[in-house]
Amino acid sequence: MERTYVMIKPDGVQRGLVGDILSRIEKRGLKLVALRMNVMEEATAKEHYKEHSERPFFGSLVSYVTSGPSVSMVVEGKDSIKIMRAVNGATNPVEALPGTIRGDFAIETGRNIVHASDAPESAEREIALHFEEFEITGYSRID
Ligand code: CMP
Repeated sequence: MERTYVMIKPDGVQRGLVGDILSRIEKRGLKLVALRMNVMEEATAKEHYKEHSERPFFGSLVSYVTSGPSVSMVVEGKDSIKIMRAVNGATNPVEALPGTIRGDFAIETGRNIVHASDAPESAEREIALHFEEFEITGYSRID
């Protein structure tokens, strides 16, 4: 079964959207198999976003995701990587459709509330960066 890494960024937590976002993921039929709230370490954020390290927004992106508590999770299900990208909506909220998390709650890329891995390789890397194997649970969902 496919797994992906999802983060509710500090703006999503500060705006009280955690319950709504978790509910959307669960109602879609995906399974939460690991879940944690913490303030991300700067080194972890830099590693997480290392593909953007040369971009002009890298410094502000790292400051943003380490600015307060975020919620990290592993989400499991068939095609979970593509489905979570669709649930989140386009990275730039201007292009995100209503009904998606960013289309409903965000107006700028620099405060786009959620993150989800964009491919199987990044999902594997991000899950391993943020979670130990023992933190990832398994159980049956009754749908
Ligand atoms: P995310 O889906 O977490 O993946 C990369 C992140 O970089 C993205 O969401 C945004 O938070 C951030 N990002 C991408 N492009 C820009 C930009 N032009 N300005 C500011 N932040 C950006």
